Amino acid sequence: MKTLVILAHPDIDRSNVNKRWKQELEKYPNDIVIHELYKEYPGWKIDVEKEQQLLEGHDFIILQFPVYWYSYPPLLKKWLDDVFTHGWAYGSKGNKLNGKKFGIAKSIGDQEENYTHTGPIGFTVDEIISPFKATAAHVGAVALPYFSVFRASFQISNEEVEQSARDFMEYISQYRS
Ligand SMILES: Cc1cc2nc3c(=O)[nH]c(=O)nc-3n(C[C@H](O)[C@H](O)[C@H](O)COP(=O)(O)O)c2cc1C
Repeated sequence: MKTLVILAHPDIDRSNVNKRWKQELEKYPNDIVIHELYKEYPGWKIDVEKEQQLLEGHDFIILQFPVYWYSYPPLLKKWLDDVFTHGWAYGSKGNKLNGKKFGIAKSIGDQEENYTHTGPIGFTVDEIISPFKATAAHVGAVALPYFSVFRASFQISNEEVEQSARDFMEYISQYRS
């Protein structure tokens, strides 16, 4: 079964890191399905049934996005709000995501050292992604360890971007089976 990557970048054409990751994902069309929310829904009207069918057809789902305001881009939030419905994702009859593996691949502008309780940000990356962990738990899915690259805004070198693309593929193959 293929891995489904839900990619949420508001401006992928001007992206550095996420665009490179997308190019790497595209090398494996037999193994990976890329679903780009901002390309699919420029008017933000999400086809809930189509999205639910897509999720039902995959057991390993990765949410890929750049960290924006210690959170994630807003269309991904709307996608979660619209698609993870009562009676489908949760509730007494909502079991469609039970047991599915959810991973996260995110680019982070700031440096890793700043994401500590004593650093300028005051929160860890683990804390920032806690809504995903709680969501996964609520729908009976398995929240995998996440994949990140730091200094993604402008300090990152081309070689580091290249390495992160390779690491991302390694992350996928590690958790695929
Ligand atoms: C609106 C906006 C908000 C951002 N907020 C954060 C943030 O809260 N923390 C952080 O470390 N970086 C933040 N950044 C930097 C992005 O995470 C960074 O530019 C992105 O990960 C780079 O990926 P890309 O090359 O694929 O666009 C923000 C960038 C934008 C445009």
